[in-house]
Amino acid sequence: MAGAVIVGWGTALPDRVVTNADLEATLDTSDEWITERTGIKERRVGGTTAGLAVAAGARALERAGLHGSDIDQVLLATTTPDRMIPSTASDVQHALGIKGGASDLNAACSGFVYGLVHAHGLIALGARRVLLIGSETLSRVTDWSDRNTAILFADGAGAVVLEATAGAGQLLGWDLGSDGSARDLLYADIGGYLQMDGREVFRRAVRATVDSALRSLQRAGVRATDVALAVPHQANIRIIDAACQRLGIPMERTATVLHATGNTSSASIPLALVDAIDRGRLHRGDLVLLVGFGAGMSWASAVIRWEADT
Ligand code: COA
Repeated sequence: MAGAVIVGWGTALPDRVVTNADLEATLDTSDEWITERTGIKERRVGGTTAGLAVAAGARALERAGLHGSDIDQVLLATTTPDRMIPSTASDVQHALGIKGGASDLNAACSGFVYGLVHAHGLIALGARRVLLIGSETLSRVTDWSDRNTAILFADGAGAVVLEATAGAGQLLGWDLGSDGSARDLLYADIGGYLQMDGREVFRRAVRATVDSALRSLQRAGVRATDVALAVPHQANIRIIDAACQRLGIPMERTATVLHATGNTSSASIPLALVDAIDRGRLHRGDLVLLVGFGAGMSWASAVIRWEADT
């Protein structure tokens, strides 16, 4: 079975910046409270899930030196598709000139890592190249008069191109899970807004992140101290702090962008990953731990050996 490696990456954010000060003007909240409780200072809002996905996907293709016609599967992780039917991946496929299969994947904020593992499976079964995108327009399902959620969620996209390789590939260990009994802790009905039990989500998020990361590390046969870069879901800096502390991974080896992006669900991990690459924090041969959790409650983690030149 063929292994896979990431050969391209790219992101897209809407132009409109909404700062904590902007939210202070319309909500009973403060920059100080939001910063202290979440780590978020500003977020981006606007666009469509397909539009952001196409922009991020095009950048990932360009970085890989490829065209849409070189891709045989596009996987779009999203909780905020533009329409019920068809998949938003169909819009992306059409816009980027991809000839192969196209499908959406919804595992909430774990979606990108779910997609990463699924993409490795497709390549193991014979696909040559998969374009994996996480794209969200959570601002459309957020009640901007609800301070419980409006301070957290935002829009954005991130993408990677995975390619078949001769060797075993980059994936060393993975873990995908879900506990459907907790599905009502964070949800949006069709046509409705996000509803959340923040405290309970927080509590479970730390545990899910740590437990899933440990399972992936164990499957990979490595220790947390071997990880050069942890790329956690960007929901709340306190969740990231608590989880990384329990794992024994210091913040110097952790990628964070949430101060500038808020929680962008499926897009958050590729946004943090690409930001780390752009800052020169990732090198060929590095061990990377990607770990997410989200509504469902779902969780997902993967340990990869970074193989691309950055
Ligand atoms: N601004 C100011 N005060 C606020 C506020 C806001 N935006 N939201 C809540 N408060 C108030 C509460 O009313 C409460 O006041 P009280 O003590 O008088 O009752 C106080 O702040 C503390 O509220 P609490 O809900 O306990 O705060 P918290 O420390 O748990 O932080 C969250 C709230 C939502 C930031 C936090 O629970 C969280 O991040 N949870 C996880 C959410 C998440 O990650 N969701 C996505 C998962 S993918």
